[in-house]
Amino acid sequence: MNESYVRFVDTTRLLQDRLMHVSRLAAIGEMAAGLAHELNQPLAAVANYAQACERLLGVAQPDVEEVRDALRQITEQAVRAGDIISRLRGLTRAPESSREVCDVNALIRELADLLESDARAHNSRCRIELADGLAPLRLDRAQIQQVILALVRNALEALQGRPCSAREVVVSTVREPDGDVLIEVSDNGPGISAEIAPRLFEPFCTTKTAGTGLGLASSRTIARAHRGTLDYRPGDPGACFMLRLPAAGPS
Ligand SMILES: Nc1ncnc2c1ncn2[C@@H]1O[C@H](COP(=O)(O)OP(=O)(O)O)[C@@H](O)[C@H]1O
Ligand SMILES: [Mg+2]
Repeated sequence: MNESYVRFVDTTRLLQDRLMHVSRLAAIGEMAAGLAHELNQPLAAVANYAQACERLLGVAQPDVEEVRDALRQITEQAVRAGDIISRLRGLTRAPESSREVCDVNALIRELADLLESDARAHNSRCRIELADGLAPLRLDRAQIQQVILALVRNALEALQGRPCSAREVVVSTVREPDGDVLIEVSDNGPGISAEIAPRLFEPFCTTKTAGTGLGLASSRTIARAHRGTLDYRPGDPGACFMLRLPAAGPS
């Protein structure tokens, strides 16, 4: 095997890993939507049994056994609803982390091919602007890459109403005065309306017909697990998302 072939295989494997993470997010979204739907069943059953209790108690001599039965059913269904919610929580929790000291710029460069091909598929351009002198950070590389991919994907989706020639996403790194590293993803799309802005990071908040509303929620969970922050600020024009990672990583 020659060297360039080995490099090709390595890059392919890397891109496949990244894609796995993106599809994991999409799969979580689908599962979560399914589970939310599933919740309706026990809730409807609780309402039905409660109504039945009221009816049973409305007669002159209520049958206590029948009422007790209905109450038991209510308890059972409530426990079932609780189980569904804890499954949902387990799904959206950030997966076990594996931290290593990383160069943030290198982590973004690794994604360049994937970002460019995603941008091309959306008839858009993706520019990368990396700052010098960034401190190495202790990170879960795959998780941080997952956040960047989710932010870029949102930007590309937001740009779809714009003319092709104008669509642009910029991924940049900034060194903060205190040494923290800022990763910014900005676009020149329509931006975010004042109505949706306060709820952006809530799970299931989506304005897309096929959206899951989990991208920003799980990205913020990852940022916080790194003792960092993920915030939004209006761009000029468009939207800008800022992932801030502390220079002194978690011990
Ligand atoms: N770059 C952006 N420009 C405009 N709106 C955005 C942008 N990023 C996110 N949003 C808004 O935030 C919502 C939530 O995003 P997200 O949590 O990733 O869920 P989803 O992409 O599945 O809708 C989106 O539906 C969209 O309305
Ligand atoms: Mg999204």
